[in-house]
Amino acid sequence: MLNKPTTEFTVTSGRPDKQRTDCVIVGVYESGKLSIAACALNRDGDGALSEAVKRGCFDAKLGSTLLLPYVPKLPCSRVLLVGLGKEKDFHGAEYTKACQAAGTALAGLKATEVVAYLPELYVRERSLDWKVEQAVVAFAEALYRFEPFKRRSEPAPGVVKIALGVPGRRELKDGETGLVRGRATADGLVLTRDLANLPGNVCTPSYLADVAQQLAEGTASRVEVLDETQIAELKMGSFLAVAQGSVEPPRLIVLEHRGADNPDEAPVVLVGKGITFDAGGISLKPAADMDAMKYDMAGAAALLGVFRAVQALMLPLNLVVVIPTCENLPSGQALRPGDIVTTMSGQTIEVLNTDAEGRLLLCDALTYALRFKPAVLIDVATLTGACVVALGHVASGLFCNKQSLARELIAAGDDSGDRVWPMPLFDDYQKQLDSPFADLANIGGKAAGSITAACFLSRFVGETDWAHLDIAGTASRKEGATGRPVRMLLQYLQHRVERRNGGTPSPAPAQDSAALLWENADR
Ligand code: BES
Ligand code: ZN
Ligand code: ZN
Repeated sequence: MLNKPTTEFTVTSGRPDKQRTDCVIVGVYESGKLSIAACALNRDGDGALSEAVKRGCFDAKLGSTLLLPYVPKLPCSRVLLVGLGKEKDFHGAEYTKACQAAGTALAGLKATEVVAYLPELYVRERSLDWKVEQAVVAFAEALYRFEPFKRRSEPAPGVVKIALGVPGRRELKDGETGLVRGRATADGLVLTRDLANLPGNVCTPSYLADVAQQLAEGTASRVEVLDETQIAELKMGSFLAVAQGSVEPPRLIVLEHRGADNPDEAPVVLVGKGITFDAGGISLKPAADMDAMKYDMAGAAALLGVFRAVQALMLPLNLVVVIPTCENLPSGQALRPGDIVTTMSGQTIEVLNTDAEGRLLLCDALTYALRFKPAVLIDVATLTGACVVALGHVASGLFCNKQSLARELIAAGDDSGDRVWPMPLFDDYQKQLDSPFADLANIGGKAAGSITAACFLSRFVGETDWAHLDIAGTASRKEGATGRPVRMLLQYLQHRVERRNGGTPSPAPAQDSAALLWENADR
């Protein structure tokens, strides 16, 4: 059911004017200046590229593209020009944008073999391996399709081979390093997007558990899948209460990657919401757009994608992924508003709205996660509509009890373009969760819905350094799953390894405004 990688990426030090291929991709600055590869094509191609710019066919604004269907004397069939904008403003983010634009243009072409000379562009403070990595991810993302349920008489046309041009032979090794990283990230993203795009009748809790088991098979990773009885033995009364409305049995998935030199090093523990369909339960959701609630396991999907990439990269750190997964459906056995459940932590919860179910599974999964004595605990969840109202589809909501961790996550977001934005966890919000009948209620009223949801979770993490990412607005769009926040999390883990090795994550994030805002906030 899931996508197998169909595009093959390689690096080449071959000259652009010698490529016998369907399409060669080169960059042009807004000033009309041609990149080195574009110059070579222009020289051998009777000045066709500079002519196109001179005649005003191409403004070369960042992210614009122009396809030259024929350039005389060149062995390639076509040339794709990519606008780079102003040379002085061409930084990492602009480079990534240019790669994305090239990928989008490619997706619309019938080209099977392509050579792209974007990694040879100069990008301040960025290494060649970084540029190759970004190009691989951008192309793979742009060419991603989810069509397992579309019947076709013939296979979809698509780009099969993409070679990335590097300046010379000596750069091939660095290029290869970038390829490996790019492929690992791209494969992780594909897994995440595929899983999130699958409908609820296919991607059930047991399906997610099978995927986890397949990820671990034949590797050094450990996997454990707990069934309903084992979940009951752990006394996860809150998680089970959500699951009881559905005939699909719940699962608790635990994956472990012990990559650190010291296998006992405190792990990073990631917890992901895995509601494979959220109808709201007895507090039934309205019919409009309810289908989008198949994405309510996007947190779980993101963590499986991150785990896949961490395995492929053999990252030298210890990582544990914990995924509570079930459905949230109404039925004669379903949890009722007013019911009181007892969590694994012993705290009792008055369930005032069965549609606020994410926190009901996460609280038990967080309690379970504490068993691993995490160095850092991060949960990822499509938790609240309120977070979509607050931050839209641009930034994921970040709630954190430790400033240094928040800073690191914000930096990872800035650096990867998969941004997060800090939200407050002031104590003053906690009283909204008071219940006359139990230790706490599962909703905190209309005001500050994403914050009270985070406050609820904060009651289950003790003193552990913890962050909660609300991805309700960022994990999916109308067109499908986005794969967020896989890139941010991978960047965070990579930075963490670099920091532990005594380096500073390179380079410092260009845009540090969010971190400043967080630091200056009166907490
Ligand atoms: N899965 C939803 C949150 C959600 C909303 C995700 C929109 C993606 C897009 C969650 O379980 C939910 O229903 N939350 C309720 C909480 C409320 C009842 C306090 C919500 O946001 O309306
Ligand atoms: Zn819900
Ligand atoms: Zn939900």
